[in-house]
Amino acid sequence: MLTHEQNELATRTGPEAPLGELLRRYWIPILLAEELAENDGPPVRVKVLSERLLAWRDTQGRYALTDEFCAHRGVSLWFGRNEVNGLRCAYHGWKYDYTGQCVDVPSEPEESGFCDKIKLKSYPLVERGGILWAYMGARELKPPLPAFEWIELPPSHRYVSKRRQECNYLQAMEGGIDSSHVSFLHSGELHSDPLHRGTRSAHYQQDCKPKFEVIVSPGGLYIGARREAEPGHYYWRVTQWIMPWYTMVPPYGDNALNAHAWVPIDDENCFTWTFTYHPTRPLSAMELDTMRKGGGIHVELIPGTFRPIINKDNDYMIDRHAQKAGCSASGVKGIAMQDAAVQESMGPIQDRTKENLVSTDNAIIMARHRLRRAALALQQGTDPPGLMQECHRVRSATFVLPHDVPFAEARREDLKARQGISPTSI
Ligand code: FES
Ligand SMILES: [Fe+2]
Repeated sequence: MLTHEQNELATRTGPEAPLGELLRRYWIPILLAEELAENDGPPVRVKVLSERLLAWRDTQGRYALTDEFCAHRGVSLWFGRNEVNGLRCAYHGWKYDYTGQCVDVPSEPEESGFCDKIKLKSYPLVERGGILWAYMGARELKPPLPAFEWIELPPSHRYVSKRRQECNYLQAMEGGIDSSHVSFLHSGELHSDPLHRGTRSAHYQQDCKPKFEVIVSPGGLYIGARREAEPGHYYWRVTQWIMPWYTMVPPYGDNALNAHAWVPIDDENCFTWTFTYHPTRPLSAMELDTMRKGGGIHVELIPGTFRPIINKDNDYMIDRHAQKAGCSASGVKGIAMQDAAVQESMGPIQDRTKENLVSTDNAIIMARHRLRRAALALQQGTDPPGLMQECHRVRSATFVLPHDVPFAEARREDLKARQGISPTSI
């Protein structure tokens, strides 16, 4: 349970909020590179951490992430024309370059130098791994570029999607941290989804009483959940939580690895990014086809949008017959939409003053605590954890160990991203 003040601290991400300041110290995935595919193409509206911005690409291919609104009288520059090395407002023609600098005010004499004094807010935007990453903090504090394993693999080895989720990022991310719900909410898919069924991991998760061992890692947490396996042995699932909003799902057999980023659009909406990747092989045609059709942990989207076809407005297409027949705990189809349905049902921002936590929520308690401590420490000038590239180069894993062997010592190497070495997964 949190107090109202603690809940506010953990969920408010605007520019004035302490957590908002913390989140602005990290690189933020904001767009798929294909959303800005062309030089001089149409600008794209981006809302992130409650700021309304515009992403675009100039004639030379330079990425721009500028204030959405014109400095003259506040018109949205989304209506602007992306012309030679600049974006020109549709109202009175003020023009801005990729840094946000105003370079032309048609109504003013050129020699007045007026436009030199006008500059839009702008942030660095870079492409890494087919994703555009923004940095919204103080320029002199910009951290090294993100270095997650999927970024450094060939494009054939990864599949990335994003979907809009209609709730605060924290309750969405807490679903990624809490692997105990898998045995219940996703029990049907463990035995039907092509990217899960038939693996030992799917089999062992029938044990609904996992015990958690959570250990602080340099960039977040190692979250070990153990279940009973063969006599004298535990089945371990180790989730990585990486500051400030990444989770890595423990893998199933030779299927690809999965990771998420839960990025606030504003305080009542977020983007759920899903990164599926195999460190040592290209993804197969079957895997890609399954994911494009909403299998694995991806979803099918309304064409031309990032809103899932299964959504709040159609009651998530709940199938009460499937639920009654025991094929699905929720009656909602697909792992990702099951997560979204239950998390959105908590309301736009979960009221954590009313929750009753149990031992399987330990990792959630520790992640909240780590975020809170980092946000408060930043106010005193302490740099946040998880900025360094080594913190990103980690993996989730699944394995079986004898009862008396602690997972974190026995399997530390398996929790690192190691080039050319397959994941530890059963
Ligand atoms: S409002 Fe943009 S040029 Fe006038
Ligand atoms: Fe889930």
